[in-house]
This record gives sequence, C-alpha cells and structure tokens, in this order.
Amino acid sequence: MRTIAVYPGSFDPPTNGHLDIIERSSRVFSRVIVAVAVNLRKNAFFTPAERVRMLKRLTSAMGNVEVTSFRGLLVDFARAKEAHILVRGIRAISDFEYEYQMAHMNRKLDQEIDTVIMMTGERHSAISSNIVKEIARFGGKIDDLVPPLVRDILFKKLKGAQGK
Ligand code: COA
Repeated sequence: MRTIAVYPGSFDPPTNGHLDIIERSSRVFSRVIVAVAVNLRKNAFFTPAERVRMLKRLTSAMGNVEVTSFRGLLVDFARAKEAHILVRGIRAISDFEYEYQMAHMNRKLDQEIDTVIMMTGERHSAISSNIVKEIARFGGKIDDLVPPLVRDILFKKLKGAQGK
C-alpha cells in the first residue's frame, strides 16, 4: 500500500529534532511531504521561502521526501496532496495535550485523515525553534541543536538583523 504522509510545522528554523522525525518517517511511509505552515499565529523569523529552502537542502538525500509550504487548513492541504496521514512529533508529555486536541480536530474536519505521533528522539526532547533562536541571539553554541547549515544561516541572518 502506498502511504503518503504530511509532516507539518513552522520549522522556524528546522532543528535536529525535526530532521530526526523526517528521517524516521521517510523509512515508514512511501512519501513524506514536509509542509511549512505560512499562516501561523507565531511571528516567524525566517520567511516561508527561507524555511522551505533550508529543509530542501537538508532532505536532498532522502528520495521520498518533498518540501513545500501551505496556507489555510492542514486537512485541505493533505487532501489536495492525496495524503491520509499527518505526522507529528511529541517531545515530552507537555506536548501531548496540544497534539491530542489537534489530532481530534483534524479528524473531525476530515474523517479520512489520521494523525501518527512519533516520539522525538531522546537527544532532541528539549529542543525548540524558539530556544535555538534565543541561544543564538546571545551568541551561545547551538551545534548540537541544529544542522551546520541552519546554524550558519541563522547566525548570518541575526548578524544582518543586528546591523540594521
Ligand atoms: N524536535 C524538536 N522540536 C520540535 C519537534 C521535534 N521533533 N517538533 C516540534 N518541535 C518544536 C518546534 O520547533 C516548535 O518550537 P517553537 O514553538 O519554539 O517554535 C514547537 O515544537 C511546535 O512547533 P511545530 O511542531 O512546528 O508546530 P506548530 O505549533 O508551530 O505548528 C501546525 C502547528 C502548523 C501544524 C498547525 O498550526 C496547523 O496545522 N496550522 C494550519 C491551520 C490548521 O489547519 N489549523 C487547525 C489545526 S486543528
């Protein structure tokens, strides 16, 4: 059976935790569509195009992974892509309530779509994109938290922003 999964998120920026979920999903599902959400409540530091570009470079060796952005409801996007699975990562029990609510809501919106939850790798359970940005903003070391590509782009953009 061909299984198409969507892995949605803000990815602002992508972290080692996200990559861990993408890699593992690509081994479980036939195709994985990494979907960068554009219309978030959060104020993003990176533009959607920048986030898509980073993710494309990070996943270029994974043949069954594609990266794109989406607007509007996640279930509408998934349906348009003929995907029946949503992948989400849970880092700690504190993530559970939010994921539980989203999974139920998405299923209410579309009965054909199921959410598959993956446990984030232990090493990545304390990472969040905001924490990465905060550490980087104050010049801290983020080498264990994000791939080198993201580290370099983040520091470059922060330098540009601070120069303004
Ligand atoms: N490892 C490390 N960190 C992780 C992680 C992992 N495996 N998975 C998530 N995170 C972090 C993210 O970096 C992010 O950190 P931040 O808050 O510091 O930025 C945080 O966990 C949660 O982010 P994310 O997983 O990207 O979810 P989100 O809440 O930003 O995005 C959407 C949620 C985009 C999936 C959701 O808002 C959505 O579907 N929007 C579309 C509109 C819609 O359909 N709404 C109805 C939904 S019921």
